[in-house]
Amino acid sequence: MSTTFQESNVAQDRIIFFDTTLRDGEQSPGATLNVEQKLLIAQQLARLGVDIIEAGFAIASPGDFEAVQKIAATVGTENGPVICSLARAIKADIKAAAEAIKPAAHGRIHTFISTSDIHLKYQLRKSQSEVLEIAQEMVAYAKTFCDDVEFSPMDATRTDPEYLCQVVEAAINAGATTVNIPDTVGFIMPSEFGDLIKLLKQNVSNIDCAVISVHGHNDLGLAVANFLEAAKSGARQMECTINGIGERAGNAALEELVMALHVRRTYFNNLFGRPTESTEPLCNIDTKQIYKTSRLVSNLTGMLVQPNKAIVGANAFAHESGIHQDGVLKNRLTYEIMDAKSIGLIDNLIVLGKLSGRSALSSRLKELGFELSDQELNAAFVRFKEVADKKREISDRDLEAIVNDEIRHAPEAFKLEQVQVSCGDRAIPTATVTLMMPDGQEITDVSVGTGPVDAIYKAINLIVNVPNQLIEYSVQSVTAGIDALGEVTIRLKHPDVGTLSGHSANTDVIVASARAYLSALNKLYFALQSPTAKIGDREKLKKEAAL
Ligand code: KIV
Ligand code: ZN
Repeated sequence: MSTTFQESNVAQDRIIFFDTTLRDGEQSPGATLNVEQKLLIAQQLARLGVDIIEAGFAIASPGDFEAVQKIAATVGTENGPVICSLARAIKADIKAAAEAIKPAAHGRIHTFISTSDIHLKYQLRKSQSEVLEIAQEMVAYAKTFCDDVEFSPMDATRTDPEYLCQVVEAAINAGATTVNIPDTVGFIMPSEFGDLIKLLKQNVSNIDCAVISVHGHNDLGLAVANFLEAAKSGARQMECTINGIGERAGNAALEELVMALHVRRTYFNNLFGRPTESTEPLCNIDTKQIYKTSRLVSNLTGMLVQPNKAIVGANAFAHESGIHQDGVLKNRLTYEIMDAKSIGLIDNLIVLGKLSGRSALSSRLKELGFELSDQELNAAFVRFKEVADKKREISDRDLEAIVNDEIRHAPEAFKLEQVQVSCGDRAIPTATVTLMMPDGQEITDVSVGTGPVDAIYKAINLIVNVPNQLIEYSVQSVTAGIDALGEVTIRLKHPDVGTLSGHSANTDVIVASARAYLSALNKLYFALQSPTAKIGDREKLKKEAAL
């Protein structure tokens, strides 16, 4: 039998990072990802150095199952992260999770059931003793498939503490190697979370046989603070997402936790049994991969990062006030507690131009951590040349946008052949759009609109003819300068499928707008084509599970 993650990582002197971007993060409205996109994120999470990837909720849909299985087979290598699937404390869920994680060298089943009085009474309609019984039975059942089993008493922070201790003890007795304490509704205060972990350590007789984990939502903006306090009391696994995406206000943000542990090492060292001045990292995360991971997740999920977001926001390292700028010019430490380079934000803005060749592009992309196939590199090079014709200087951020846009988009049923708009203060905005249809036919239509983008979207709607509601449209510039690439992100809603996002980058925001809309419509088309993989069904199941 292979060594379990716990046997090789009884990590009392470091934090284990459990990333749930692909499970809890993907529950953000409109953040739905296809299998290929999930795989790209999982590969990047492995480069980032997360210990465990919660790759999905295998029973939720055939698409989720396939994604977990593919990630297990591709990313779950001997030296790679543990690949985990979520499962309700139900046999069918656990079986599906076990099957999906099978190809991984190290797999984990994460099973959960609600334990708070309010969930027991109104949602499960079960007594405390019934739930206790189910928890033990289902952990034991999960254990028949996999050594590494995590158990979560959902809504733990609103659960009667005495009962919580009983359930946790029973789960460990049944074989749970990690016990996760979820602040499901983002309700607890930092010092209370610290106290709750202490209480578990004092009252659960077998607590040292499992890793204590924390999971938390950001409804009061306290998730990160709560986790750091819990770590001070002995929690050693943190469940978080990139950019803090997730259900409602999101989950604790991985990059904030990692950088808090990194920047304030001397504050945490003693609590982890290390000498105060130790410079050893407190986790396995490669901080230089943070920025790139953040951009990838934002681009693929369509969840934009607010400019003032800690660590990865566009303004996180920008100094606007004269006094701050003056200080930073004299010595960066006057107003900077961390170096932008430590999260992989490279100062080197101008890297390539019109005359750069394929091998220069290839080696720069490699330095940026993109591993492209020959075919992908060819496509990226064609796009690079197009952009370089319009934009003299191509920065690393431009390259990221090009690769994410050109290589990493979803399959296309409708392809943009051409878009033309006439508009101006004396003109009625009018768009002509030609699309290649799924059957290979080209169709052109024309529409007027309140503005150029409205006209384009109306013309596309006339061709595609899938009613939907556009609920968000936003444009951001990738870099400064009049010739910057514009990134367009849109979100649309369909009654059966739910919310979907689309994203595109181009020096022409009109073209980016058309492509972003089409990328969301393509997702919608494939979701409607495949009734078994309907996102609506999945959302229904997730709602039933009330995650
Ligand atoms: O928020 C929550 O309680 C969860 C559990 C499934 C861990 O996501
Ligand atoms: Zn959650």
